[in-house]
Amino acid sequence: MRRDLSELTPKEIVAELDRYIIGQVGAKKAVAIALRNRVRRQRLPDELRDEVAPKNIIMIGPTGVGKTEIARRLSKLTGAPFVKVEATKYTEVGYVGRDVESMVRDLVSVAVAIVKEELQEGVREEAEKRTEEQLLDLLLPGVSSQPRPRDVSPGTATPSGAPGDDQPPPPAESGTREKFRQRLREGKLEDKEVEIQVTRSQFPAIEIFSGSSFEEMDLNLGNLGSLLGGKKKRKRTTVRNARETIMQEEMEKLVDQDRVSEIARERAEQSGIIFIDEIDKIAAKEQRGGVDVSREGVQRDILPIVEGCRVNTKFGMVDTSHILFIAAGAFHMSKPSDLIPELQGRFPLRVELKALGEDDFRRILTQPQNALIRQYTELLATEGVRLDFHEEAIAEISRIAADVNSKTENIGARRLHTVLELLLEEVSFEATELEGQTIPITREYVRERLASVVEDQDLSRYIL
Ligand SMILES: Nc1ncnc2c1ncn2[C@@H]1O[C@H](COP(=O)(O)OP(=O)(O)OP(=O)(O)O)[C@@H](O)[C@H]1O
Ligand SMILES: [Mg+2]
Repeated sequence: MRRDLSELTPKEIVAELDRYIIGQVGAKKAVAIALRNRVRRQRLPDELRDEVAPKNIIMIGPTGVGKTEIARRLSKLTGAPFVKVEATKYTEVGYVGRDVESMVRDLVSVAVAIVKEELQEGVREEAEKRTEEQLLDLLLPGVSSQPRPRDVSPGTATPSGAPGDDQPPPPAESGTREKFRQRLREGKLEDKEVEIQVTRSQFPAIEIFSGSSFEEMDLNLGNLGSLLGGKKKRKRTTVRNARETIMQEEMEKLVDQDRVSEIARERAEQSGIIFIDEIDKIAAKEQRGGVDVSREGVQRDILPIVEGCRVNTKFGMVDTSHILFIAAGAFHMSKPSDLIPELQGRFPLRVELKALGEDDFRRILTQPQNALIRQYTELLATEGVRLDFHEEAIAEISRIAADVNSKTENIGARRLHTVLELLLEEVSFEATELEGQTIPITREYVRERLASVVEDQDLSRYIL
């Protein structure tokens, strides 16, 4: 659910986050305040507004306790443009000093996608109208929307325009058109074939978390496009598919690209959030050869962006001064104080996330909107299998997850995924044959399925 950011008080933001993330109150409060401060800043007079820098945050906590999840939910909640980058990505061999600015360009690309969707929503109705007309043109080749004075018996026009069909259209052309419109609206022509012009390759949906840069992808796609020849191509397809293509093109045409860029830049500048993960990995504690040099190099590269600079993107110049940066890391080997001082100063807020225990797990399994137990139950319900988790079973799963975490490696809530996967492996495998059945998941069932693995530490290292 997306709401206007300015409506949400810090308390409401925390309450919204509570629906997905268990505990971690400190971190939730910090991000809620940071967010609210932006709203407050917007209300300041101009001169003062530019002076107020965002209070960037460092989240400190072990793996799998909700750092990324909090940031991700936050952005979803507010509809703010959000990207997540791994600080270590910039230290990879061959990437030293690499374009850290790409994180800003990615953010703008995300903003563009958001804004475009918003603006397109506003022209949807008009685009739908135009699409319908175009579909009718395709279904009735030669029958223009303006009635021409011709005379043929009705009902002879075939929609696909087969050869030898360029017979004159029916008497009341508009009548035929209206008949087709009727049938089109009733969904009776969905599988009919029509010929459409395909002008450009459709952009694939790009995952925000994919890690690679949008700009790079765009470039690659661009090259590919020209290699394949960017010409128009004719293609036969069903009305159903044609509608999608035409609709996309019409919406594209109806929305002013320059306006999209302009609003998107503003949006990225004023409400963008950049999440820098694994910041601890570039905080070198002691000098250990060349790697550390590049680590500090990355910090120096990131610094101007966090301090506020102008970055050139293909949608125009973007000022980074008021983008909110949230950095995160486990800080096992290093401390925030190992970061270069300038960078530390730019991340004044430090919040610690706690390691998760058995009780947290029990809640994580059942309480969040997207709770794991619910996910699995729904998944299997699609096969007609009902999973009935007993409360003691959930307690047992939590106990086992906490136990394995303490004995092997503590991977936080991620452990629940591996435990559940193993627990339900058999049911998942046989689900197709279990249709109509209810499978009680009892404490005994959990023990039976997991005991052997949990007791054998070597085995659990591999399997859980
Ligand atoms: N406190 C929590 N409440 C609910 N779910 C949680 C919580 N902590 C973690 N999870 C779940 O565990 C998974 C991993 O969490 P997340 O990605 O936030 O880890 P992280 O803290 O960013 O770890 P890392 O340091 O490895 O990046 C996610 O699926 C998330 O939903
Ligand atoms: Mg993370």
